[in-house]
Amino acid sequence: MNPIIQELQTEAKSRLASIRSPQDLESFRIAYLGKKGKLRDLMEQLKNVPDDQRRDFGRQVNEFKQFLEESIKSLKIETSSSAASKDSFDETLPGILPATGRIHPINQMIQEICRIFERLGFETVDGPEIETEFHNFTALNIPLDHPSRDSFDTFYTSEGELLRSQTSTVQIRVMQDRKPPLRIIAPGRVYRPDAVDASHSFMFHQIEGLMVDDRVTFSDLKGVLQLFLRELFGKDAKVRFRPHFFPFTEPSVEVDIKWGKGWLEVLGAGTVDPNVFEAVGYDPKKVQGFAFGLGVERMVMLRHKIQDIRLFYENDLRFLEQF
Ligand code: PHE
Repeated sequence: MNPIIQELQTEAKSRLASIRSPQDLESFRIAYLGKKGKLRDLMEQLKNVPDDQRRDFGRQVNEFKQFLEESIKSLKIETSSSAASKDSFDETLPGILPATGRIHPINQMIQEICRIFERLGFETVDGPEIETEFHNFTALNIPLDHPSRDSFDTFYTSEGELLRSQTSTVQIRVMQDRKPPLRIIAPGRVYRPDAVDASHSFMFHQIEGLMVDDRVTFSDLKGVLQLFLRELFGKDAKVRFRPHFFPFTEPSVEVDIKWGKGWLEVLGAGTVDPNVFEAVGYDPKKVQGFAFGLGVERMVMLRHKIQDIRLFYENDLRFLEQF
């Protein structure tokens, strides 16, 4: 290659490498391709080149010109896009929406259930998760040798308290604090030392209900629960009451709803045992009541056909964002 062109090209390459903005690029273009630019100077020299070398020199000048034009063209694309992100702000572009959270499916279900009972005059109340044996067992008429008191079935603290294994504790607290008539609903976490698998967790959610007045019958319990389950599962839901045993209700039932060809248990319930009224200082001859308890995870799993309870606690947004 002709040494003059060679030198110019080397110089041009190093200047190209330091171009950072459209302005740099434009001054480069003017310096080389402009009216008084270096390429023009080269052309002027053409006439001084000996006849036999002129053709070759002309070709090299042309190649250099092509090199310059192509380099400028490709840098134009680069500098204009990086300049846009660095130096300019397009106020017509839509904004970036901040990610908004949503209510966890367990809490959605709790809210929905509490709304239904609130329409029936029940008040939503809260109770502690760390409890005494009295509130979790003794006042609920659960005998000292009952297996649920065992440390295989209840978490105890080193201070002799426990993590409540059922929301029935809130029945006791509310009755200790207040006089009848009462209509309360108490959602919350409960704890049991179960090995975790697709249908068990050491922590889950229950909702407790309690109604106490001077005359509350088993028919009231049936009416309220039937209405509740039809609100939740649709007005055609079929409900079945099956005799059962709970220490704190007498008589007791388990409540099933029709699910496909079979029945599924969804609630435990009954009329309040007189011993429970006595434990909280109510006169069992003057008051009557009913109580019920349900598992919240169970309800959500039924409604959305969820097979694995662990999904609720893993905080995986791919799961949670579906609700
Ligand atoms: N506490 C019972 C349970 O955990 C449910 C229940 C509540 C049953 C109130 C009857 C009355 O299984």
